Amino acid sequence: MSRIDSDRIIELRKLIHYYNKEYYVNNKSLVSDLEFDVLLKELESLETKYPDLFNPNSPTQRVGGDITKSFDSVQHKYPMLSLANSYSKSDIEDFDERIRKIVDIPFSYICELKYDGVAISLIFENGQLIRAVTRGDGTIGEDVTNNVRTISSIPLVLNGEFPQMLEVRGEIMFSKSAFLKLNQQRKIEKLPLFSNPRNTASGTLKLQDSSIVAKRDLDCFLYAAYIDNSKFHKVFDHYNFLSSLGFKTPPIDQRFIEQVNDVNGIMDFINFWDKKRGELPFEIDGIVIKVNEVSLQNEIGNTSKSPRWAIAYKYKTTQVKTTLEDIIYQVGRTGAITPVAVLNPVEISGTMVKRASVHNADQIEKLDLRINDVVYVEKGGEIIPKITGFDISERNTSNLPFVFISNCPECNSKLIKDDGEAHHYCLNFYMCPPQIKGRISHFIGRKQMNIDGIGEETVEQLYNAGLVQNIADLYKLTKEDLLPLDRMAEKSAENILVGIENSIHTPFHKILFGLGIRYVGETVAKKLSASFGNINSLRIASFEDLCSVDEIGDKIAESIVDFFSQDYNNKIIDQLLESGLVMETEVQKDSNHSTIFKNKKIVISGTFKNISREELKTIIEENGGKNTSTVSKTTSILVAGENMGPSKLEKATKNKVEILNESEFFKLLEELQANDKTKQFKQGELF
Ligand code: IVH
Repeated sequence: MSRIDSDRIIELRKLIHYYNKEYYVNNKSLVSDLEFDVLLKELESLETKYPDLFNPNSPTQRVGGDITKSFDSVQHKYPMLSLANSYSKSDIEDFDERIRKIVDIPFSYICELKYDGVAISLIFENGQLIRAVTRGDGTIGEDVTNNVRTISSIPLVLNGEFPQMLEVRGEIMFSKSAFLKLNQQRKIEKLPLFSNPRNTASGTLKLQDSSIVAKRDLDCFLYAAYIDNSKFHKVFDHYNFLSSLGFKTPPIDQRFIEQVNDVNGIMDFINFWDKKRGELPFEIDGIVIKVNEVSLQNEIGNTSKSPRWAIAYKYKTTQVKTTLEDIIYQVGRTGAITPVAVLNPVEISGTMVKRASVHNADQIEKLDLRINDVVYVEKGGEIIPKITGFDISERNTSNLPFVFISNCPECNSKLIKDDGEAHHYCLNFYMCPPQIKGRISHFIGRKQMNIDGIGEETVEQLYNAGLVQNIADLYKLTKEDLLPLDRMAEKSAENILVGIENSIHTPFHKILFGLGIRYVGETVAKKLSASFGNINSLRIASFEDLCSVDEIGDKIAESIVDFFSQDYNNKIIDQLLESGLVMETEVQKDSNHSTIFKNKKIVISGTFKNISREELKTIIEENGGKNTSTVSKTTSILVAGENMGPSKLEKATKNKVEILNESEFFKLLEELQANDKTKQFKQGELF
């Protein structure tokens, strides 16, 4: 191989990447199409001559050609969360109030456009794109690298100073003009037209043939960078960094992104784009509001689904009208009855809608819905469309007021509706089939016990065959039980049994989530497992013990006490323990872990001279304490920094909470650590 040729390949790749970036990211045409093509052809012919120098990130690979038969599943290093939605000024005020309860120092918000496309995670190693993964369920996505390589505005090779590993998140979408062009072409080819840019972007990313993707002109805006131990202070630092590496980020000068200080600033941005969004070259489905300061984002934290420090504001969606044909009922695993509207099928933004949610009896009454009414249906941020009203001018006098059922549609038990509860409930917890099956399905779910090989259909079969009547029965199944089931091959039976066996080692908080205690979701389960450490402490916890845990309120505490007061549940838990499930946390197992702040709730407020708030939080948690955000009578210590708000100080004094400044806190830490070591040493001496 000639040295000159290999140098030329490197040079051409650099040059074409550069022209490409200037054109697709910065809208600058530095060479004519002809000149560009000549360079590309030269590179292509050199690469054909030297196949050993193949590089998947060469600009020649943008045209695609790789076929992906099935997309590999990839686990995200950082979960890809979604955003909570808001729809009004008062929702935004509530969001702001929630933030200000936690943060008592001055801060700002960043408002951005919410691009209506498909979320993507791009992984770069040593500046080279190595993987592109869809959001999937937020934990596991699909590897769509071959298709993403064809998107011209995504750099395949980074410029400037980049870390060894970099993950970048953004949104892949169609511009309105690219979408129009695609449909015009399809019209000429007499192919069915696509209904909207978002679904088409999502479908395009899943095409097997990347050369078709290359022709479709997808675009991408990037909005976040993930680097271990990053030094970003503000959201803007992400943007400046991403832009310096060659990514397409939203232009600041066109008000695509703006820093504001309060709700009024947020509303200005929202109202501006409500009027102007039609003029944008791409579709947005709302606005995203983020707390600007990264340290505060970390302090405010996330739920299992979405960050608490950000929210999406959704613009009103278009309404359609159709006939309400019937209302049917579904029974959930908790016995909650959900009415579902059956509609005369109607198209909303490209999808056929046959069912809509009507939430509960109160909602039906409030909307005064009657069968055969012509109703308004909206598909907003939620996946399930909802009925928002009916057209009085089209109401027939024979349409009678709706009467909600009084007995369970599945087991015929009398339904109960407590004061303050939105739903009717079937209380036949032990015998109502959808509740039993629902609990089993919930238990085996991916975020709970993650038992492979059992889907809802298998649960149905196992239940109908009388093999599994509760979650503990799963661990008693044998191959002989499974083989007689319909369509159950030897291999599937083995997979199921291996899946069940593997689930025995599931961490405590996931088992707890899997038990299906009402109001105990993934986040609450984590809190309970961290606070009580094992199932037996939790079983005997009183209402007050439970309420003293951060973020556990009366409703959750009551539900937990009620759950463990029932013999049926305790028997199932005993059986699970007998089957080998370990219902205690790793920390409990590891007795060397420092517990000097065990059961201590510590609030941090203000700023500190020698340590960041994040580092302080880590110290508290590593020593078994809990860092909470609001001062109450159960708070043990308030670590008071500089510039702290007066309200926390006032509350702490009122509730007789110990108040320590930075140096006093570290003195206490040192003392406790010294005592702790002595204790360990003495215990050691005994042996
Ligand atoms: S920030 C933790 N910023 O909206 C999520 N998301 O509904 C942080 N999206 O999954 C996301 N534009 O795919 C962010 N400017 C923007 C966005 C944006 C669109 C998408 C994103 C996310 C979804 C949540």
